[in-house]
This record gives sequence, C-alpha cells and structure tokens, in this order.
Amino acid sequence: MKAVRYHDYGGPEVLRYEDAPIPEPGPHEVLVRVHAAGVNPADRQIRAGLRFRLEKPFAFIPGCEVSGVVEQTGSEVTGFAIGDDVYGMLGKFGGGYAEYVVEAGDKLGRKPTSLDHVHAAALPVAALTAWNALFEVGGLVAGQTVLIHAAAGGVGHLAVQLAKWRGAQVIGTASARNEAFLRDLGVDTFINYRTTAFESVARDVDVVLDAIPREADDATDVIARETMARSWAVLRDGGIQVSICAQPVPDPESARRGLRGSYAGAQPRNEILNRIAELVDEGKLRPDVGTILPLREARRAHELIQTGHTRGKIVLQVVGCGDVRGY
Ligand SMILES: NC(=O)c1ccc[n+]([C@@H]2O[C@H](COP(=O)([O-])OP(=O)(O)OC[C@H]3O[C@@H](n4cnc5c(N)ncnc54)[C@H](OP(=O)(O)O)[C@@H]3O)[C@@H](O)[C@H]2O)c1
Repeated sequence: MKAVRYHDYGGPEVLRYEDAPIPEPGPHEVLVRVHAAGVNPADRQIRAGLRFRLEKPFAFIPGCEVSGVVEQTGSEVTGFAIGDDVYGMLGKFGGGYAEYVVEAGDKLGRKPTSLDHVHAAALPVAALTAWNALFEVGGLVAGQTVLIHAAAGGVGHLAVQLAKWRGAQVIGTASARNEAFLRDLGVDTFINYRTTAFESVARDVDVVLDAIPREADDATDVIARETMARSWAVLRDGGIQVSICAQPVPDPESARRGLRGSYAGAQPRNEILNRIAELVDEGKLRPDVGTILPLREARRAHELIQTGHTRGKIVLQVVGCGDVRGY
C-alpha cells in the first residue's frame, strides 16, 4: 500500500510518501480501507520527537484518526461487517496516513451518514476531546457560561457547537479573520484576543476551555501560559478551568475561591463516537475542513498545522484524490 512514513525524527521533510506493508488485523481488529485521515497537532509533535519516542530503526506512519470502509474483520469482531463505513481515533497514535490501517473493532464508530469521508475524518480526535473537556471534566450544563480559548481551531470549533447544543452561553476567542466563522457557529460573544483583553469582557464564567495550540513557537507558548494564568479571574466561585494542553494549577487566591483546574483529553471510545455521529446527522454539529490535501502532500499539512493558526481541521484525502483542491 502507499503510506506516509518517517524513519527519523525531525521537521516536515522527514515525511516520505512510499510503499509499506498492508497491516494484518488481529482477532479483535478490523482492517479499514482509509478514505481520509485527519491531521492533528499531536502528529507534528510526535514527528518532531517531542512525544512517544521510538528506538531506531523504525518506520512510523503518523495519523491518529481516519474515516474509511471495513475491508476485513478479525475472527472475534462483532458489530462490523465488510463494507461498513466507519470512523475513529487510532489507539496507537499512528497509522492513519495510509491506504489501510487496523484498529480494535470496539474502538471504531459508525461514520455519520450525512458526511463524506473527508469531513468524517475531521471529527474523531477533536470531537472526543471537546466532549471530554466540556461535559465529562468540565461538567458543563444548560444555562452555564463557557469561555473557549482558540474557538476557531480543530477542537475549538467543535467545542463551540457542542456547548451550544448543551444549552450553554458561549464566549469564544480568535483573531479577527475568524469572527464571522465563529458567529455563524453560534458563539454568543466573540473576543478578538489580539485587540481585546478577554477579562474585560468575560465574567461569571462556569467553565474555561483552554485549546490554544502549544509548541508552534516560543511566543505562542508564552501567550498560552499567560492566558491560562489570567483565566482564573473570569471564573465564578467554584468554576473550573479545563485545558487540553497542560495541567492548570490554581494560584492561592483562586484555590481559596474554590476554583479547580484539570487536564482533559481524547480517548478512543465508540459510544461517544456514535453519539457524535447522531448529532451530526441531526444537524447539531458540523465539522469545518479548512484544508483538504492529497495524502502525498502530508508535508504541506504539517507545515500548516505547525503555524497554530489554521481554521477548523486539515484532512488528507486518500481515496478520490483526483478531485482534491488545496485551499
Ligand atoms: N489532550 C488531547 O487529547 C488533545 C486533543 C486534541 C488537541 N490537543 C491539543 O490542543 C491544542 C489545540 O488543538 P487543535 O487541533 O484545536 O489545534 P489547531 O487547530 O492547530 O488550533 C488552531 C487555532 O488556534 C487559534 N489560536 C492560536 N493562538 C491563539 C490564542 N493565543 N488565542 C486564541 N486562539 C488562538 C487559531 O486562531 P487564530 O488563527 O484566529 O489565531 C487557530 O484557529 C493543541 O496543542 C493540541 O496538541 C490535545
């Protein structure tokens, strides 16, 4: 099969579009013909050697999420048959940038019927992360107010929609070029973080969600840390700051006010993926794919995600690339 792999850690130039063996499904696994693979900041961080380092020699296929069609099922797999449309997050943080991938059958979800594979591949990691952060860790309920930092990104734009669906008031931060996009998604209050201090607008917030991308460059990391430190002030007593990037630790005054901080993250869980697919098919949630590239242009995808300023998701199209336009 064709796959994008790397044999050493480094910049986007280590990514190679080359031949690789088709993986064999184990008894509990499904072989998926990948139609599209989502791109995440984690793919870049792992490629740079910042997380999950392997001993050399290795040949690693990046990619944590896919949408595709079941090609083969292991002997113990129940619930999926050859030809089923599936989507999901890959438990091994890799394997997605390829024509085929294997995944445990009980981790995959049924693809939303109203989406093509490119848009379905944009969902698993970001939607599972937003769900965990807002609802399971943040405990967001109807009538509460949530402040979402980086509301226009892969996680943020889905978090906005999930919070609105839950019945929350949503305050979202982004730069000016994303204002119309976020208002269209339903944010009640837009804050241009480049021109307005969010504390001057947001107050009595129940949940802060920090989704500001890290490790793009040193300046972004500084801004992210400062944003986290400043966010305690907008929370009402007893509120919570949830970060999908770092552990927020309340300062002494925040702790005295009963404020809490917690890290949240994506886990491959098919029951949540199936719920997300229902919300999509009911018209409550729609992924935005800002950039579609053919699989062989994974390097370009990594250069873009590295900027920390892309809108919605980047997706690599694996099947039907003749139609693909990068934009
Ligand atoms: N824990 C987990 O399981 C998990 C899962 C997914 C992602 N993550 C992490 O979460 C972070 C976000 O992921 P993502 O996929 O959403 O990233 P992304 O799509 O690359 O985020 C890009 C967005 O960030 C916005 N942004 C950048 N700096 C900002 C700032 N100072 N204030 C407000 N918005 C800002 C940009 O908006 P503008 O262009 O308007 O500036 C852009 O729309 C990454 O660090 C990723 O590694 C963790």
